Amino acid sequence: MSLLKFKKIKIETYKPGKSKVFRLKNIIKLSANESALGVSNKVQKEINKKIKLFAYPDSKSKDLRKSISKKFKCKFDNIICGAGSDEIIQIICTLFLKPKDEVIVPQYSFLMYRIYSKIAGAKVVFSKEKNFKISIDEILKKVSKKTKIVFLANPNNPTGTYLKKKELIILRKKLRSNILLVVDDAYVEYMRNKDYESGLKLFKNKSNVIILRTFSKIYGLASLRIGWGYGPKNIIDAMNKIKPPFNVNAVAQSAAVVALNDKKFISKSIKHNLFWAKKFKKIFENYSIKSNEVSANFLLLNFDNCKFSASYIKKKLENNGIILRGMKSYNIKNALRLTIGNSNANNKVVNNFKKIFR
Ligand SMILES: Cc1ncc(COP(=O)(O)O)c(C=O)c1O
Repeated sequence: MSLLKFKKIKIETYKPGKSKVFRLKNIIKLSANESALGVSNKVQKEINKKIKLFAYPDSKSKDLRKSISKKFKCKFDNIICGAGSDEIIQIICTLFLKPKDEVIVPQYSFLMYRIYSKIAGAKVVFSKEKNFKISIDEILKKVSKKTKIVFLANPNNPTGTYLKKKELIILRKKLRSNILLVVDDAYVEYMRNKDYESGLKLFKNKSNVIILRTFSKIYGLASLRIGWGYGPKNIIDAMNKIKPPFNVNAVAQSAAVVALNDKKFISKSIKHNLFWAKKFKKIFENYSIKSNEVSANFLLLNFDNCKFSASYIKKKLENNGIILRGMKSYNIKNALRLTIGNSNANNKVVNNFKKIFR
């Protein structure tokens, strides 16, 4: 054992969605909100191209930022790319937080907000949700002199609920102007709800909002680790100063450019997701399993009115090689999160439920 001194950081480390079941070979992993249709053929071809592996990647991800800026009609200089949006969250926390600062996160929210905030020494304050939906009133109640950042994902993971366009605008208006609002648009592409608007569209010209986006979901590049942030130029400049110089690898950068522009694959994925999310929701209703309104590429299933418990169903499915996300680390009782998979995986889920409830 080493006697060297180092920081003792009190956090529960992130537990990724499970991907293995003891002894089983053919696993269906529906626990990490990954792309149902994998990666597009066009992107796969790009990845297979010979690239100069010996050379450092473009530290500024210029080509990718140009593509992002063109596609989303936003400013090149205000975009920062990261090894997943995860890294952008980390850079924000490093840049903004010092010990005793406070960060507000909704009660059931993506775990990395609280983890990186705590690592930076800040105090994490949880705002209550109502019916598993973020409440802007509850967020505002938690604001103190020490509040520096409010993090939220819209739609939210793991609850699948979302704040309406109006609610988001009100939240920004009512929050003190020197509090940074981070709106995580990770699942934006799946959203077909009329009262929803993306953080990017709403706030791209705001001086106190940062938007997060990822290539890990609909674009199917979770393994390559690539995401981006959008915010005021002076903040993005400061973030660029402290980011690791070659944080995004070259394969990820060129794959992401192709992925962004593969409209066919994106619209196929959206259709697939909508079809299955609606179908699943109906099927689950027959078993008295409640779920959120269809939104992103997952459903949060609540078993309170069901004759079986979440843990019983989880075990039964795992015995047949199907993995859903348990909600222990999020502190949500009697619930499981199901990622919409490909048709084969989804049909297997349906058949397994039929068998269990027979
Ligand atoms: C809301 C939210 N933000 C960010 C991420 C992480 O994305 P990335 O893979 O880009 O780090 C996830 C992944 O599950 C997520 O659910």
